[in-house]
Amino acid sequence: MSRADTLDRLNAADLRSACADQRIGNRVEVLGEATSTNDVVLKMAAENDEGLVIFAERQTAGRGQYGNHWESAAGKGLWFSILLRPKIPPAEASRLTAWAGETVALTINEQLSLGATVKPPNDVYVAERKVAGILLELRVVANSPNLGILGIGINVNQNLKDFSEELSLKAGSLTMAGGTPVNRQKLAVALLQNLDRTYRVFLS
Ligand code: BTN
Repeated sequence: MSRADTLDRLNAADLRSACADQRIGNRVEVLGEATSTNDVVLKMAAENDEGLVIFAERQTAGRGQYGNHWESAAGKGLWFSILLRPKIPPAEASRLTAWAGETVALTINEQLSLGATVKPPNDVYVAERKVAGILLELRVVANSPNLGILGIGINVNQNLKDFSEELSLKAGSLTMAGGTPVNRQKLAVALLQNLDRTYRVFLS
């Protein structure tokens, strides 16, 4: 059994039933480990509809903006990617990043009242520490809507010691800000429901 399995694993069946009838979350998988959930979604894109969601309890090669490494401690955060087929020109892709960041901040505030704010273009901050980031990877597909792989990383139950020395100066987690452990499952359900709702508004 891997270390992630001994922690409070996300429950895929519960996530699926909470997202029944949604576009985002029409298929939800929870992996114990992935290189990067963005890589997994890219590999599965051809056989899946828009709205596929892949979570991993741990990423061995999580990546952030500008080629940065993204620390993904096992079972401590929410590391997931969503398959999108947005009918918007690639030049407007930054609107998707803004939509996702705003929905992540809104959900953190709805669920935990932590005063999360978006720091454009892709960061979410609480109490002057970065708690979440968005990585949108676009692939142009001839004669069909472009492929958008939206990766979202949220630091949930890390303590300072869970971060590398470099990151511990600027990164934070929801539990550090709120002072109590956060139920990742409940937060994941709320995120997928809010992302589905606000994506419909985004497209309208
Ligand atoms: C950033 O702020 O630089 C963006 C971080 C994005 C991290 C998430 S975690 C899930 C998905 N998989 C990855 O490899 N990256 C994104």
